[in-house]
Amino acid sequence: MNLILLGAPGAGKGTQAEVICDALKIPTISTGNMLRAAVKEGTEYGLKAKAAMDAGDLVSDDIVIGILKDRIAQDDCKNGFILDGFPRTVPQAQALDTMGVKIDKVVEIYVADETIQQRLSGRRVCEGCGNSYHIDFKPTKVEGICDACGAKTVIRKDDEPATVIDRLKTYHEKTAPLKDYYAKQGKLVTVEGQEEVSETSKLTLKAIEG
Ligand code: AP5
Repeated sequence: MNLILLGAPGAGKGTQAEVICDALKIPTISTGNMLRAAVKEGTEYGLKAKAAMDAGDLVSDDIVIGILKDRIAQDDCKNGFILDGFPRTVPQAQALDTMGVKIDKVVEIYVADETIQQRLSGRRVCEGCGNSYHIDFKPTKVEGICDACGAKTVIRKDDEPATVIDRLKTYHEKTAPLKDYYAKQGKLVTVEGQEEVSETSKLTLKAIEG
């Protein structure tokens, strides 16, 4: 099954991607994680992406489409995949169609902007493996230390409150039109994000099965 997770920054796409990945045993492809890894490694496209990411803007379509194309061609994607954070613009969605990638379902995780602003202020990410936590909703066992790899957890640069406002604006302008794009194809299902992660997860899995 090929799935897309759609939603505003901080709506919980990454969190739900982990749940689906465990349930369906298909890999998650997060363009955000891939870009952050490229920035950390200082690769050519990482250097190009950094300024846009730090400002809460989108990285150019040609860079992101290029990395996505290489990733879905890999062997582990042959039985399906979850796209977390791609497509984010109508041209990116059109690129998937042009590549002949068949999408079975698009799951929108809907959370109001005000809730998102609160959530992202409490997010912490591991600077080693990239795992994501929340100081209230998903705390690490030892404060400031990743449960998985033992590295330090930090605030993501683009989670600064002013940048979150810019990211939400970018989402409403450039990504939200994808809801229409996929609704017209009869593929869009909307899950209302709940206060409890486990409650959202139940609704997400139901939406995929239904
Ligand atoms: P990306 O990494 O994709 O970031 P994003 O879409 O802004 O999404 P986030 O990772 O911030 O949030 P999420 O929805 O995954 O939420 P999470 O599950 O972590 O992209 C980063 C940047 O890269 C972009 O701004 C752009 O510059 C660039 N980029 C990436 N893809 C691109 C593309 N295709 N084209 C162009 N540019 C691209 O949850 C958030 C927090 O809330 C966590 O702390 C979590 O624990 C908590 N939480 C989750 N669910 C719940 C719940 N139900 N209740 C309470 N807390 C919850």
